[in-house]
Amino acid sequence: MTDPTTKPILILGGTGKTGRRLAERLTAHDLPVRIGSRSGTPRFDWEVPATWGPAMQGVSAVYISYYPDIAVPGAAETVDAFARLAVQNGVTRLVLLSGRGETEAQRAEEMLKASGADWTILRCAWFSQNFSEGFFTGSLAEGEVALPIGNVGEPFVDADDIADAAFAVLTEPGHVGQLYELTGPRLLSFADAVAEIAKAAGRDIRFVRISHEEFTAAVAAHELPPEFGWLLNELFTQVLDGRNESLTDGVQRVLGRQPRDFSAYATQTAATGIWSN
Ligand SMILES: NC(=O)c1ccc[n+]([C@@H]2O[C@H](COP(=O)([O-])OP(=O)(O)OC[C@H]3O[C@@H](n4cnc5c(N)ncnc54)[C@H](OP(=O)(O)O)[C@@H]3O)[C@@H](O)[C@H]2O)c1
Repeated sequence: MTDPTTKPILILGGTGKTGRRLAERLTAHDLPVRIGSRSGTPRFDWEVPATWGPAMQGVSAVYISYYPDIAVPGAAETVDAFARLAVQNGVTRLVLLSGRGETEAQRAEEMLKASGADWTILRCAWFSQNFSEGFFTGSLAEGEVALPIGNVGEPFVDADDIADAAFAVLTEPGHVGQLYELTGPRLLSFADAVAEIAKAAGRDIRFVRISHEEFTAAVAAHELPPEFGWLLNELFTQVLDGRNESLTDGVQRVLGRQPRDFSAYATQTAATGIWSN
């Protein structure tokens, strides 16, 4: 447990999918928060290590959400350098948002454990919110999601459950040295997930399985920075090979309740109109 009553908790990625929700929860409990991002004060930028020290001065703990993705080569070394600097500065309570079945993410976890920090790891499945706050939003609006993925089940986890878990581990005792693997309660293929969204949105949205070559060509056509091209290829052609096709009890262990189902996410998100056209 940290002492967040007087010192703020630094939330890296504090305006992103999980960080924003964690900030809302802490603020709702009158606990002070410092947003760690390029728009935070002081500014925090993963690419500018000189910004790390000022951002962590006087904080009680850090929620580490790496950007762009903890699966990217070199992410582990960067998270390691950040964790060691935090420990040197007396900020030992560190909570890492990690990913499942990703070599680099698991390397980052091991480095965090060796950093001298009072660590907790939240190793998460794919977020449901990728469909509404991430890279699928545009495809869904256009009515077609095309990916090189077959009938592989993914236990999509809700960012609200991750934020609830992060809030719990940062404000309750007993979570130091724990790794929680967080998944949703049900395996869905991407085709299943798109079908649930289409039903909730009341629209015709298709899932199309394309070849790896077609996918690579589509990514290239978007002229993304090279690391994003690499990342999309890694996530969709390597990590989604069935290695993560299992449910875990992580949400139950941290929160004492079942995780939120994808259908609840789809229904609630459809009501915001984000998938309407
Ligand atoms: N999405 C998933 O399904 C999933 C699953 C498992 C694990 N993860 C892990 O979760 C982490 C976050 O992923 P996400 O998809 O949820 O992203 P996200 O948190 O929504 O990403 C956006 C956040 O990153 C900040 N940011 C962008 N560039 C930055 C920079 N150079 N320095 C510091 N902050 C920067 C943004 O704020 P500013 O624009 O203000 O800088 C914003 O707060 C990643 O490490 C990923 O590997 C994601």
